[in-house]
Amino acid sequence: MIEIKETIAVERSIETVFRVISDFTFIAQWDPGVVSSEKVSDGPVGVGSAFALALRYGIFSMRMVYTIAEYLPPFRVVLKGTGDSFAVTDTIEMAENGPLTTVTYTAAFDLPDMPPHLAPVIRPLLKRIGRTAMAGLKAALSPSSGPPRSVALFSSGIHPVDRVADGLVVPGALGFSKWGHTLAKSFWKPDTELLTGKTVVLTGATSGLGKAAALGLARRDPRLILIARNRQKALETSRELTRATGNENITVAVADLSIMAEIHRVADEILQGTPCIDVLINNAGALFPQRQTTAEGLERTFATNLLGVFTLTRRLLPALCRSKAPRILNVASGGMYTQRIHVGDLEMESAPYDGPTAYAWAKRGLVILTELWAETFRHRPFAVHAMHPGWVDTPGLAASLPRFHKAIRPLLRSPAQGADTLEWLASAVAPGQCSGLFWLDRRPHGTHVFPGTRETEDERRQLLEALTAHENHLRR
Ligand SMILES: NC(=O)c1ccc[n+]([C@@H]2O[C@H](COP(=O)([O-])OP(=O)(O)OC[C@H]3O[C@@H](n4cnc5c(N)ncnc54)[C@H](OP(=O)(O)O)[C@@H]3O)[C@@H](O)[C@H]2O)c1
Repeated sequence: MIEIKETIAVERSIETVFRVISDFTFIAQWDPGVVSSEKVSDGPVGVGSAFALALRYGIFSMRMVYTIAEYLPPFRVVLKGTGDSFAVTDTIEMAENGPLTTVTYTAAFDLPDMPPHLAPVIRPLLKRIGRTAMAGLKAALSPSSGPPRSVALFSSGIHPVDRVADGLVVPGALGFSKWGHTLAKSFWKPDTELLTGKTVVLTGATSGLGKAAALGLARRDPRLILIARNRQKALETSRELTRATGNENITVAVADLSIMAEIHRVADEILQGTPCIDVLINNAGALFPQRQTTAEGLERTFATNLLGVFTLTRRLLPALCRSKAPRILNVASGGMYTQRIHVGDLEMESAPYDGPTAYAWAKRGLVILTELWAETFRHRPFAVHAMHPGWVDTPGLAASLPRFHKAIRPLLRSPAQGADTLEWLASAVAPGQCSGLFWLDRRPHGTHVFPGTRETEDERRQLLEALTAHENHLRR
């Protein structure tokens, strides 16, 4: 038996510390040796909860399963871990110490197959791993403040390295792949902020990125409202989320977000029962290979990806304004880099319809809208951000661009990897300290890479006017 013991003190409440530590899905945020951690049992975290971990130390990879054996909130949790050739018991005790919470972490390793002569080598190695993990836990639980470093250091908010990489196109595009995500992750600060007491409205949670984001958000304990067009699918998603995380504070509102009348109806419904919204995530979106027209006579790409987001956000503003620090998060796409906005032809009527181009126009519009809203709310504690998830293996991508999906499948991110930035933008402290930025992998990026895509001030104003006119026209 080899035992390692470390103590740290952090400035977070004992309840938060207990919750973050005992939900072992967070361990991937703070232990650099853990590549991923997934809760594989149903229900809220408690005795019997099980977590499957993938670990990597240098060239060694291994898998482990941890099960909670004792659970005494907010003071003590004991987890039993088993790997291929060893077992470990982690006993974590928390105590209040003035404004600090002290965490004493003891890991007792049982290595039955270890030859005795290796003990002097293994013991210091395990100690080092334990110390690194505890340093990570301390960093993860230390309260963060201020905006992201690049925002504090550079007037554009964008790190020059990212600007150069984006401009070189090939490294920029490789950043969209799963490798880009892995590289970016090595520079992240852990995010263990909870959303307890906050209300998050999320669109498009029944599939792909939205579903992965919903899972990550649900375990951070907010009240979650899912807006979806398919009631059955949405109810099933909500049940799955409750089963996986124990969060029972999840409700469903039904609307087709390409139909403005449905958006107005669902907004009325939400506003009636929800005086305050802290985070609105406009994730629902789609690329249509063929031109389609909605029942209201709108081109569907524009209606779903731009006008619908504009309308829903405007309608939910009264509730967002009641939050102390509201956030609006818009899911755009790297595809928008290829196009400029066409304010006089938002529904692509003057040219033959092309799905990816129409999609890029709409997402370009959404990024401009994000900047305009950030400007409008600059004197209030509003954070308005756009993000793009990279290339993500989702049902949406497979259906809309099947050949592209097949060709680059080995490079695609998982939905959880694509959704990570969305979850971080909703929960972490840093993105609440800045506004109007465009993010990939928790870093702000420029919004123009190719020449000729930059819009004029006049076009930005015209975009806002055009969207407002559309909204007013359809309301009458
Ligand atoms: N996957 C990528 O590589 C990628 C890259 C860049 C940007 N994005 C963006 O990421 C977001 C999510 O896409 P995804 O890849 O996860 O696609 P997905 O798997 O098709 O999921 C899209 C979600 O949006 C919902 N939705 C679509 N149209 C809707 C409408 N009219 N009304 C209500 N809900 C609607 C879908 O509902 P149903 O379940 O009912 O279909 C689904 O929940 C989109 O905005 C997309 O443009 C994706």
